[in-house]
Amino acid sequence: MGERFDVETLLGALTLAEKASLVSGSGFWWTRRVERVGIPSIMVSDGPHGLRKQADRHDHVGLGQSVPATCFPTASALASSWDRDLVRAVGAAIGTEARAQDLGVVLGPGINLKRSPLCGRNFEYLSEDPVLAGELGTAMVDGIQGQGVGTSLKHFAVNNQEHDRLRVSADVDERPLRELYLAGFERVVRDAQPWTVMCSYNRINGVYASQDPWLLTEVLRDEWGFDGLVVSDWGAVDDPTKALPAGLDLEMPSTGGASARTLVAAVESGALDEAALDTAIRRLLQLLDRALPGVESDDEASYDAHHAFARTAAAECVVLLKNDREVLPISPDVKHIAVIGEFARTPRFQGAGSSKVNPTRVDDALTALRAGVGDDVTIDFAAGFGVDDPTADAAVLLREAVGKASFAHLTVLFLGLPPSYESEGYDRTHIDLPADQLAVLEAVSEVTDRLAVVLANGSVVAVDEWHDRVQAVVEGWLGGQAGGGAVADVLLGTVNPSGRLAETIPVRLQDTASFLSFPGEDRHVRYGEGLFIGYRHHDAIEGPVSYPFGHGLSYTTFAYEDLTVAPIDAARAADGSTWRGVPRLEVSATVTNTGAVAGKEVVQLYVGAPRTETARPIRELKDFAKVSLEPGESTTVVFVVDERDLSSWSTRADGWVLEPGTFEIALGASSRDLRLMTTVEVAAPPVAYPLDRSSTLAEWLEHPVGHEVLVDALRHSRGGDLSSLTEDPERLRMLGSFPMTRLGTLLGGAVDGDVIDGLLARLEQP
Ligand code: BGC
Repeated sequence: MGERFDVETLLGALTLAEKASLVSGSGFWWTRRVERVGIPSIMVSDGPHGLRKQADRHDHVGLGQSVPATCFPTASALASSWDRDLVRAVGAAIGTEARAQDLGVVLGPGINLKRSPLCGRNFEYLSEDPVLAGELGTAMVDGIQGQGVGTSLKHFAVNNQEHDRLRVSADVDERPLRELYLAGFERVVRDAQPWTVMCSYNRINGVYASQDPWLLTEVLRDEWGFDGLVVSDWGAVDDPTKALPAGLDLEMPSTGGASARTLVAAVESGALDEAALDTAIRRLLQLLDRALPGVESDDEASYDAHHAFARTAAAECVVLLKNDREVLPISPDVKHIAVIGEFARTPRFQGAGSSKVNPTRVDDALTALRAGVGDDVTIDFAAGFGVDDPTADAAVLLREAVGKASFAHLTVLFLGLPPSYESEGYDRTHIDLPADQLAVLEAVSEVTDRLAVVLANGSVVAVDEWHDRVQAVVEGWLGGQAGGGAVADVLLGTVNPSGRLAETIPVRLQDTASFLSFPGEDRHVRYGEGLFIGYRHHDAIEGPVSYPFGHGLSYTTFAYEDLTVAPIDAARAADGSTWRGVPRLEVSATVTNTGAVAGKEVVQLYVGAPRTETARPIRELKDFAKVSLEPGESTTVVFVVDERDLSSWSTRADGWVLEPGTFEIALGASSRDLRLMTTVEVAAPPVAYPLDRSSTLAEWLEHPVGHEVLVDALRHSRGGDLSSLTEDPERLRMLGSFPMTRLGTLLGGAVDGDVIDGLLARLEQP
């Protein structure tokens, strides 16, 4: 900690009531100050893709009194860039604005996984994959914190739906917790050390995240080394006397003194150790120390420059899903374009709820297209449909749209989800576009065979019913305040699209793994699909998808060659760069731009584990690189695969285990477009799973030490030498699954409970 506070002296000077007051907020956005001893306060503000700084007279999720700020692409868009540098730069821009607004902490990024496309806040989340979410979350935290402003990694954890979000228990087994739902958080905490982590509203396996010592202390701090402050989501604390000792440090927002009174009473009655308050205050002081500028801040943010950057950023996020007959980019030969759809004129560029930014300005695609084409090009516009507007006359709008499209050489149809369809606070019930928009699409597609659809949506929409009727589909997401200009840049070819899907577009909602259990009932949601969400599910069952995870087209093409996989040299093994003798692997390949224009490729590294008794996804993303190449240019991409990349969580071993075997290493352009693949033998030492009284005969024999101990005991058993049993495959197949304690009679009483306790004791011996 810096020099600003003499922490121990302060703790000695604070009264119990003052201490209790410090661990909850002041008003909606401030930490509490104690002027008597010189503890100042800081202001925090949403959110993940731009600031929502409200005066203390707040309306929580509205725009009232929120200071104008640059609205960058929302998380589902940003993640589609697959670009760490870009996300870091967006973070830096948000950090600069935050600093200029004297904010101490930006409440983001949100990195919860997209378990279902229905989650109302998917637009605020990055991906269905923890590596992608974790890497981009790390970049965002680095970017913001690099400007001297804190972040709040949220919502920790397993907050994958809005339905009943303040009470629901996400009931998840430990493997999916570790391998999916916690993995992204772990990555960001280890790699970027966010100053704060925001615990979620929900319960996890019955325990509120805000008062779960396993989550907030054992895992977050003891295992991952988090040294910052845990803040509650706004209103997430059910019982402050449980939250504080569990590891929560700051309850937000203010409870008007109620929590402080409860905490004082708990300390006075002996129910709560005052040391828990001291610990939280130490962390609060550390946060203040980090967040308060050394000198009075006179920073300024350049909103014009940020707007221009927001356009560049949004263009990187656009995913070209389909482009038949190279209908895009719009050729200079096209002299008459019909632009249809209200979203072209009235863009939908962000979602609703606590992340809603009051933008400094907003670009629309129609204006940007008109500005981008030559004087000799005519652009005709028709609204086509109303957005959340019951008074719109659908028949008239549709007729006008068809008329315009039938005279044009090319039609661009802007479709999307109306604002009421997706928001914080509630989930969607389906993934379809509104019927009136689909009617326009159908009618327009009858009169033109050069039709490009541009989508504006925060969470995926089904395309299966209609994408065969159109020549191109451009997924523009919610691209922030400059998203309209960015879409125009991609349509006109000023920018070559390089976004890739950070989530699968399923054929039907019914095809998604959580379909039958989302969003649960009676305050519980059971994550019965376990490890198999998103592409892990679709690829495992080889089910059809509309567009796979990682997919995205470019106006150029790329070739992949020369895959090599080699252990990283043994010399580095001695310095701890191997684990338990297993070398890390270096994976490399050459990527070449084989087309006529410059472009960017996202090279994705997938690992497939050997088929063992442990259920594993067919393949999982482990790393990725975005490379920019001129026509004809090549580059070498290099990745490092480490033990953790090959491992799975074992509840039996209570840790990560690496099972030896043949692993598949593949590089590709999506989870279903693997361009290069090879296999590698990994000869890991056998895992020594702990043995106990219910371990089976087979488990004893698998155990490197237990095996010897057991064979020795059988050899000298009271009933004579029974060790031949361990060499008789047929009997072993029969008896292997018997817990040793139940084998007693089958082995003629030779192995009873006492014998097993004796064996277990021998295992303990050094
Ligand atoms: C949201 C958080 C947000 C907080 C403060 C909560 O309702 O879940 O994401 O940071 O409000 O606005």
